[in-house]
Amino acid sequence: MCGIVGYIGTKNAKNILLNGLEKLEYRGYDSAGIALLGETLNITKVKGRIAALREKMEDEAFGTLGIGHTRWATHGVPSEENAHPHESASGRFTIVHNGVIENYQELKETYLQDVPFKSETDTEVIVQLMDKMSQTTQDTVTAFRQTIQLLQGSYAIGLLDNEDVDTLYVAKNKSPLLVGIGNGFNVIASDAMATLKETDQYVEIHDEEIVLLHKDSIVMMDVEGSVIEREPYTAELDMQDIEKGTYAHFMLKEIDEQPFVIRKIIQAYQNSDGQLEMSQDIRNTMQEADRIHIIASGTSYHAGLVGKQFIETLASIPVEVHIASEFAYHTPLLSENPLFIFISQSGETADARAVLTKVKKRGFNTITLTNVPGSTLSRESNHTLQLHAGPEIAVASTKAYTAQIAVLALLAVDTAREKGVQLDFDLLQELAIAASVIETLTEQKDKIEELAKTFLNTTRNAFFIGRGIDYYVCSEGALKLKEISYIQAEGFAGGELKHGTIALIEEDTPVIALATQKAVNHPIRSNVQEVVSRGAKALTISMEGMEQTGDALVLPAVHEILTPLISVVPLQLLAYYAALHRGCDVDKPRNLAKSVTVE
Ligand code: M6R
Repeated sequence: MCGIVGYIGTKNAKNILLNGLEKLEYRGYDSAGIALLGETLNITKVKGRIAALREKMEDEAFGTLGIGHTRWATHGVPSEENAHPHESASGRFTIVHNGVIENYQELKETYLQDVPFKSETDTEVIVQLMDKMSQTTQDTVTAFRQTIQLLQGSYAIGLLDNEDVDTLYVAKNKSPLLVGIGNGFNVIASDAMATLKETDQYVEIHDEEIVLLHKDSIVMMDVEGSVIEREPYTAELDMQDIEKGTYAHFMLKEIDEQPFVIRKIIQAYQNSDGQLEMSQDIRNTMQEADRIHIIASGTSYHAGLVGKQFIETLASIPVEVHIASEFAYHTPLLSENPLFIFISQSGETADARAVLTKVKKRGFNTITLTNVPGSTLSRESNHTLQLHAGPEIAVASTKAYTAQIAVLALLAVDTAREKGVQLDFDLLQELAIAASVIETLTEQKDKIEELAKTFLNTTRNAFFIGRGIDYYVCSEGALKLKEISYIQAEGFAGGELKHGTIALIEEDTPVIALATQKAVNHPIRSNVQEVVSRGAKALTISMEGMEQTGDALVLPAVHEILTPLISVVPLQLLAYYAALHRGCDVDKPRNLAKSVTVE
């Protein structure tokens, strides 16, 4: 969701900003813009893609100071007028902003009644306030601090003063933003990926901090103006991780990376004797909990449902799984020692963060499972479990989901062992087997592509059915399909169909059934028969030992608790090929953002 890049140095910022914005495209956006400050100020904006922005930027556009932005519309429709950067009425200040200014109406009414606004955005309030504040003080830093102190809500801000070509003004609260340190230049970015080509040295900006960037120095301060010192760190990102290489789409690359991710997780969570090991802090936290609340959204929520099954079955701790955006407003009755586990690929999801803020105020213990070390949820939780999936660029989450399942399984097994439960399997070994099985599945792309063509090429809707843990994977399969192919898809518990949804089954409606659980193989097969008798085209995916004649795919057997790692892979590939053959933009589906930083 919205991305920011900024540069101050000696080179022309134009291409650095355009390249940086391209790297942020994965976050989801509907318009983009760049401001360059040199001898003059040059602002270019487009509704649509960065490619169009690149084309529109005049050859002579030059500036050694610049800010760029991708916008995902919240206040005001996607349009050139609402795209950032925004200028103040006097033309002196130019801003890019991520986040939501919650009190923008109030600020407009209190301070800016006489100011003509050009856009419908909350952002424009900030830059107009800068104009106001600078009328009563000669000092831009003071005006900036005064402006920032008036804002309520979330913001990552890059601001130019066209009377000062030597400073880029930066502020942050709740929205992600980093400073990148170069030799003779400095940059800002929502994500280090955007500027990794320029530098691998970064400094975190914390909430309610201000940074003044010059080409040879940076000054960090709090909103009161007290200077803050912070050491830089080296971004552990590889350019290869953020390039598509020979793949047509990031999504396909990320599906193929899943075996590697699982092996990386095995390495990360084993001690020198090859035994599973969690930190003592996490162990204590798990043992103290009398009830666990898993908080997540979208795909991460689906992983949470599987995690509940793991923790309850193996470690016997009751678990509730909550949709983050619902929990924030409908808190259930809580036990004496609840533990909150947040699952978030990005670690930036605003819905989850709202819950985290709330439960922290009540002093409850928190663990975040995330793919992004240093992300907001990770920093603000008591403990973090890393997913080690590497950057996930496609909007549709794939390898982060399998990483979440693997880490949740490890957490459940470790907690069970610490409680003295004797388990008759070695999870690390079982995970290694699962990784190899995923590899064999990713080699069956041609077969799955054919299935996608046969079942999903022209349909308007599709249903996914399963029982037990298969039902949770079906929910994930349906989400994958709908978000990238725009086919209306739903996951259902097999037994629930006859209580209403079966009314939607028509001639040739695709029904994708998972049958990987021995205990429910018979009933799910009956559910398939029920829909087939009403005209559905059934595509059944089963597992060795449970297969029946007519199954479209039979997955190699893995340990029962790890079946979600395997059964999700053909569903991811079905979604990918369905979207591809329907001509959809696989990696950047319409209306969606990768990192959902607004509630
Ligand atoms: O970064 P998070 O895991 O917190 O994101 C949660 C959801 O927004 C995310 O899983 C979303 O549903 C994906 N697009 C699914 O593919």
